[in-house]
Amino acid sequence: MLSYNPINTEMLNTPRLQKRLSLKGAVQISCHSFLVYKEDGGKTFLKTGKDENIQKSVVRNMIESNPFISKMLRRYHIKPSIDTKTLMELTNGHMNETCNIAMGVYSILSEKIKKQVDKICLKEASMLHDLGKILIPSKILNKPAKLNTKERKIMNIHSTLGYELLKTQDINPETLALIKYHHQNLKHSGYPNLPIENTSSDLGVQIISIADKYSALREPRCYRKRLSRLEALLILYREVREGKILPDVFQALVRYAEKYDN
Ligand SMILES: [Fe+2]
Ligand SMILES: [Fe+2]
Repeated sequence: MLSYNPINTEMLNTPRLQKRLSLKGAVQISCHSFLVYKEDGGKTFLKTGKDENIQKSVVRNMIESNPFISKMLRRYHIKPSIDTKTLMELTNGHMNETCNIAMGVYSILSEKIKKQVDKICLKEASMLHDLGKILIPSKILNKPAKLNTKERKIMNIHSTLGYELLKTQDINPETLALIKYHHQNLKHSGYPNLPIENTSSDLGVQIISIADKYSALREPRCYRKRLSRLEALLILYREVREGKILPDVFQALVRYAEKYDN
């Protein structure tokens, strides 16, 4: 099994805090598995999954502060509802694991490559990359079969939705770009379309993307079993040969997997 970093259990979910949450203030999500409420420059940390109402109010605030989100949901005929169960599962499972892998891969890469990637942004983005899935209807998210074309189109907006949810929340633009493009690749054949001039985040995108894919392949899905380490690496190696993944990043993943994924 892959090694999970323990989730920080520091919790301030007290009646006093709940009172404070009814006040207006900027809302932010941190890279440490917590929803964060900022007030007067101070930060309050909330463990995800602890209080559904607080989580919903935090996300509702995010939706209300960016009208583009409602517009996008309408365009895809998605009824706005906030799936906090998905948020908790993703935060404590897949997003946390993607973050561990991304950080592991980063640490193995050469100094020359490391210099081109902002480590903090990579960590924040990998911890938050699938946040947009909380707005994807669960019948699509948890469908125990292959998605049809229409469902795939809806599923593929999750990275843009995550970006839009966080765009108004005082998050580093590099972190936001990594969240938006975590399904992109070197050939730019992923989604959403990458602006032609934007190549600076390619390396960060490469790391978050390979960590995301490896984490997903090593997890069981309702439509397939959990793949072995070798099976997962072989699938990603195919993408290296197709020119979608940078060989250096893949090699770092192989070394990471050999050491930490037994
Ligand atoms: Fe994703
Ligand atoms: Fe993901």
